[in-house]
Amino acid sequence: MTFKEVVLYRRSVRHYKDTHIDTDKVRACLELATMAPNSSNMQLWEFYHVTHPVVLRKMAVACLGQMAATTASQMVVFVTRQDLHRSRAKMILELETQNILKNSPPEKHSQRIRQRQMYYGKLMPFLYSSFLGIPGTIRKLAVTVGGLFRPVPHEVSENDMRVVVHKTCALAAQTFMLAMANEGYDTCPMEGFDSRRVRKILDLPAGAEINMVVSCGLREKGGIWGDRMRLPFSQVYHRID
Ligand SMILES: Cc1cc2nc3c(=O)[nH]c(=O)nc-3n(C[C@H](O)[C@H](O)[C@H](O)COP(=O)(O)O)c2cc1C
Repeated sequence: MTFKEVVLYRRSVRHYKDTHIDTDKVRACLELATMAPNSSNMQLWEFYHVTHPVVLRKMAVACLGQMAATTASQMVVFVTRQDLHRSRAKMILELETQNILKNSPPEKHSQRIRQRQMYYGKLMPFLYSSFLGIPGTIRKLAVTVGGLFRPVPHEVSENDMRVVVHKTCALAAQTFMLAMANEGYDTCPMEGFDSRRVRKILDLPAGAEINMVVSCGLREKGGIWGDRMRLPFSQVYHRID
């Protein structure tokens, strides 16, 4: 399939065939999902790939008994891990340092490594820290004052940072769904689920938040509900000349 064909092939499938899909191929699609763009390359996501029939049955109940869940061959739960920001920043700093040593001219090494140390060692922990809304309020105050003198990002509250990790995770989910479509496999993204039950079934760590559950399988005849309906493009497209 061409890229356009893949995009058009992907539909939200609500009824799957009772057919096995290859776990390794789904896993490979998840590996591709990690190539998604993500905020500051912090990769604050995790993927829980559910293949066990008993767990799938429990998950289907937690997904409100939707047919997209009850007929699924496998599921992937996309999870945000904002709580891991310190360890991820440390890992990315190490990778970025290697990247600089490999790809930057030697005379730029120390300056660029220092910048990365500032960014991942100081700024990221400051931006991602959360405790009863206090660090977020301090950040908001800082950017409100700083913004009087120069352009600054204003979305730095604790809720804003949750949005950041969730949008990053959703990009991974979309990359996954397109990779699955490229394999001729089908998916349905779901936010219709009981998060407490899903957390319990998967034994998720306290700092994890569920972004999306994506059911997987092969489309049954009639498993797609009707034509793809979209607003007229002219209503959503604004060209600024
Ligand atoms: C974040 C998100 C949550 C969704 N939740 C559900 C859901 O719980 N159940 C469902 O059947 N479809 C769900 N959908 C699928 C949408 O209804 C579907 O993408 C939309 O109707 C467009 O259809 P298409 O995906 O076939 O193009 C969800 C989609 C997204 C992006």
